Amino acid sequence: MDDMDDIADFIEPASASASASASASASDDNDSASVFTTDRLAITSDYDPTLNHTTASLVGSVTDSVNEHVYENGRRYHRYKSGRYPIPNDDMEASRENVRNALFSELLGGQLHLAPIGDTPQHIMDVGTGFGDWAIDAGDRYPSARVVGLDLSPIQSVWIPPNVEFVVDDVEDNTWIHGSDFDLIHFRMVAVVLKDPAAAARTAFENLRPGGWVEFQEVYPRIGCNDDTLQDIDEYVVTRYYRLATHVLRRQYGWDLFAAEHLPRQLEELGFVNVQRRVCHVPIGYWPKDPRRMQHAFLFEETLTEFMAAMQAKPMSGGIDVVDEDGERIVMTADEVDDLCDEVRAALRVKHVHAYIPFHFIWAQKPERAPV
Ligand SMILES: C[S@@+](CC[C@H](N)C(=O)[O-])C[C@H]1O[C@@H](n2cnc3c(N)ncnc32)[C@H](O)[C@@H]1O
Repeated sequence: MDDMDDIADFIEPASASASASASASASDDNDSASVFTTDRLAITSDYDPTLNHTTASLVGSVTDSVNEHVYENGRRYHRYKSGRYPIPNDDMEASRENVRNALFSELLGGQLHLAPIGDTPQHIMDVGTGFGDWAIDAGDRYPSARVVGLDLSPIQSVWIPPNVEFVVDDVEDNTWIHGSDFDLIHFRMVAVVLKDPAAAARTAFENLRPGGWVEFQEVYPRIGCNDDTLQDIDEYVVTRYYRLATHVLRRQYGWDLFAAEHLPRQLEELGFVNVQRRVCHVPIGYWPKDPRRMQHAFLFEETLTEFMAAMQAKPMSGGIDVVDEDGERIVMTADEVDDLCDEVRAALRVKHVHAYIPFHFIWAQKPERAPV
């Protein structure tokens, strides 16, 4: 594969189940009230005009269960709704998220999103904000906006722009207390970790202002290869790893790592219009000649390596015993999982297999007016 193929293969043309692009106009922010309940923690900034970024403070009623963490197998996890999310929230995960943030930024050429929200949005929500990198960047990029980052974990930076706040909450909770005037509700690597992404999209629909946008940015681990360097994709070790992870996470946590596949149709069914999708292919292995794509491969190597460590710490700790969708039982000892991870790590460095993993960017607009 030469460099031209490299580039052509990087971005699939934008596709949409409903076509047409549209531009969103910003609306007045007339509902910026924050409500804090006793079991939800809000982190807002104490604005100090002498600083560009401000230190965060905790406001509202903070209960221990929200503020504390749980420790298991040497890793740290969220305490609020404990056990809901099996990936750690410690420093190692912070560094993985940082690398993934860089990967997404590279894929989007430095943009934060693809939804056309204009230059002066008033109200933005980042659902499943994690350590808050995207929300902080959005606060810097849009000084006009109040940006809210929501997560199960109180792990966000204390150095935040004055227009950013973080709340601890469960987006899958029935009660939404964060206002209904959003210009953009953003989910990054979150549809894949929810029990019901369509329900979260419905929550977004209900709480966007008319003309507001939702955007999902998600991995879609159906490994591809456009030449004959990979004879059997199904038997490729990275495919095998994701297949196992999919079974384990679906079985234990109700996740669907392939959630991105259904999102465009689900968004249309919910009433969204202008549904758009862009797919970027991230190289697996050290094969690209283009330095930018090589950088993507390095960043992906780092995030998958640390993802496997996180999976071994909890969902795959002690081995695997799951039943796949065909009813077949899959049993692996911890040593066998370890060996598989070694094989994946080796595959992430080879030059002779031109494999890639797709990332999906899906954005859609709430109609300006409700249909009559
Ligand atoms: C894979 S991380 C993505 C973090 C961040 N969006 C990013 O792109 O780096 C998923 C995040 O979603 C959060 N999360 C999972 N389930 C959630 C829920 N039901 N409500 C709120 N946050 C949730 C997790 O705590 C975690 O921080």
